[in-house]
Amino acid sequence: METPDLFGLLCREYFETGTSSPLQLERDDGTIIDDYPIKHYVKEASLRPLEKEYLELARGKVLDIGSGTGRIAQYVQQRGLDVSGVDFSEHLAHISRARNIHTYVMDVKRTLPDETYDSILLFGNGLGLPGTIDELTHLLKRLQENTAEQAIIIGEGNDPTRMKEESDLHYQKRNLHLCRYLGQRNWRIRSESRTGTYFNWLQVEPSLLEKIAHETGWQILKGPTYDEGSQ
Ligand SMILES: C[S@@+](CC[C@H](N)C(=O)[O-])C[C@H]1O[C@@H](n2cnc3c(N)ncnc32)[C@H](O)[C@@H]1O
Repeated sequence: METPDLFGLLCREYFETGTSSPLQLERDDGTIIDDYPIKHYVKEASLRPLEKEYLELARGKVLDIGSGTGRIAQYVQQRGLDVSGVDFSEHLAHISRARNIHTYVMDVKRTLPDETYDSILLFGNGLGLPGTIDELTHLLKRLQENTAEQAIIIGEGNDPTRMKEESDLHYQKRNLHLCRYLGQRNWRIRSESRTGTYFNWLQVEPSLLEKIAHETGWQILKGPTYDEGSQ
């Protein structure tokens, strides 16, 4: 049986007990991939230097999309900025509110908070959160309506053109064979015997992101920057 919102549940278990079972992703080709341990998504101290470098660019009123446990929003709030989070998981909103982060519970593919922001954050590979190229385009278009002039989006994602592992290359070929975009992912969260629901995730290459940004009225001013050994 599927466990709804398994990622949120695992984070909540860790938040309340200090331990958790391993976090894995099971791709729709059957491959099991180890993710970061759950504590990475819960502990604020787990921010990487590159995340901190880019967060320095955040200014004004900030919306953290897919805010999870609020580890990013908390860091930004500590810098004195007015930040809200939005996530569709009640478990994650519970944790982020316990950290005094104003948090909306919404599916951002359908709704966005009715406010005007100066900075939008998409961390934890959040550029992939829309799940498909069409949904990413749709989100970037809608963000024009919820942002001030000169607003910025700071986003993190994986670049499918830098993937080197045989299994990733095989999956990319499979995508093309299935007439899907190269960087399309369909997977579910797995933790020991518990599994979540399959969902789409996106890994978008910088040249395509630039094209989509241009089409939706945004401009890429910085990046991509890669962590050593990462994609
Ligand atoms: C990989 S986690 C990253 C969390 C956080 N940004 C971080 O870096 O720790 C992705 C987050 O996006 C949220 N999410 C995914 N799809 C969403 C949607 N359509 N609307 C709102 N939140 C969503 C998940 O619940 C999860 O908290």
